[in-house]
Amino acid sequence: NTPVALYHENVIKHFEKPQNVGSLDKNDVNVGTGLVGAPACGDVMKLQIKVDDNGKIIDAKFKTFGCASAIASSSLATEWVKGKSVDDAYKVKNTDIAKELCLPPVKLHCSMLAEDAIKAALNDYKVKRDGGKAEKRAAV
Ligand code: FES
Ligand code: FES
Repeated sequence: NTPVALYHENVIKHFEKPQNVGSLDKNDVNVGTGLVGAPACGDVMKLQIKVDDNGKIIDAKFKTFGCASAIASSSLATEWVKGKSVDDAYKVKNTDIAKELCLPPVKLHCSMLAEDAIKAALNDYKVKRDGGKAEKRAAV
């Protein structure tokens, strides 16, 4: 048995052919960047979204330095947020990612990293569009 047998075929698919690997221009006001790390294992995930003027996510890219499950989770996350509104993208749950990839309990934090990365990217986009107003409101 190779270690690969531990992974569900949906993980293997996204690991071998990750979708949307790469970067978007983080200085673009329509681009939101999320960079998160998992304290449990030290893996790092960067996820970026590009939003059009109607609030629809038209592009998403990721770079993940981590395990197969983390790479598969971020690949799936970029596929799922593309075409969604910003509000709907907030609703992507790590549990849905884990379910789609059949992640075992020990790998659940890999999908959490993907949810955190999506939310961080969405928050970054909102703060940029808002000119920092949201941050100030939150601080009051
Ligand atoms: Fe080593 Fe995730 S714990 S790659
Ligand atoms: Fe840490 Fe997968 S083992 S992100």
